[in-house]
Amino acid sequence: MIETVSIGDAELEVMDRGSGPVILFVHGFPLDHTMWLELTESLTASFRTIVPDLRGFGKSSVTPHRVSMEQYADDLQRLLTVLDCRDPVTFCGLSMGGYIAWQFQKRYPELVGSLILCDTRAAGDSDEIMRARLIMAARVEREGTGFIPAALLPKLFSESTCDRREDLIENARRVILRNSPEGIAAAQRGMARRPDVTERLAEIDVPALLLCGVDDVISPPAEMREMAALMPRAELVEIPDAGHMAPVENPQAVADALRSFLEQVSGD
Ligand code: MLT
Repeated sequence: MIETVSIGDAELEVMDRGSGPVILFVHGFPLDHTMWLELTESLTASFRTIVPDLRGFGKSSVTPHRVSMEQYADDLQRLLTVLDCRDPVTFCGLSMGGYIAWQFQKRYPELVGSLILCDTRAAGDSDEIMRARLIMAARVEREGTGFIPAALLPKLFSESTCDRREDLIENARRVILRNSPEGIAAAQRGMARRPDVTERLAEIDVPALLLCGVDDVISPPAEMREMAALMPRAELVEIPDAGHMAPVENPQAVADALRSFLEQVSGD
């Protein structure tokens, strides 16, 4: 079921399906909840999947200028409260969704039973990446979203997905184009200021599954391997035939990894 949930100063669109242990799925940039559709379809028989559009994306309301990773984390805590989820959940975030997961786990550790971190980073931005984010933020506010697909899609998907899965690329293009320029700019400014959490990884003592597309060029497998090695209860699974958008490019392999991780966690 898709519903609009008021969390105080914003309205979030959320898809809430299935029953059982809760998995909260948090999309990457500059996408929306639809990136999780195929993956979550196969999970709703065993889990309650809560899949929101973050503030400023999809049909959720927009807060202009800058939204921090902490603010998105607070929004998700409020969303879970409104949806009456008071027990620990599995937080599954992709890329920017992972940056938000670090902040959510820090602020609301009592709400995190386990973490699934897809194609994401713990490090902060280099000066060059930070500058590029601020330039994109200003440009999208001036010109709209039209220039973004050509700039981002070849980095989000593997070369082979770009060649062979025009349907996936087209979907992502449509989602990016219909997102709000102000929402995209606000997220870029928020990501540019996000903290480096590498030092904290050793303290994140919950079961964690790190997933990475073998051809991910934004958060490459070598970097995610190092992150997993620093986390006391983490394992890394590399997803074949996938780049940065592993859950979209190879949902079957991601669903298999996720199920076997959650079975193991529930048996602990
Ligand atoms: C994402 O997929 O969310 C982005 O690659 C995050 C980023 O721009 O760092």
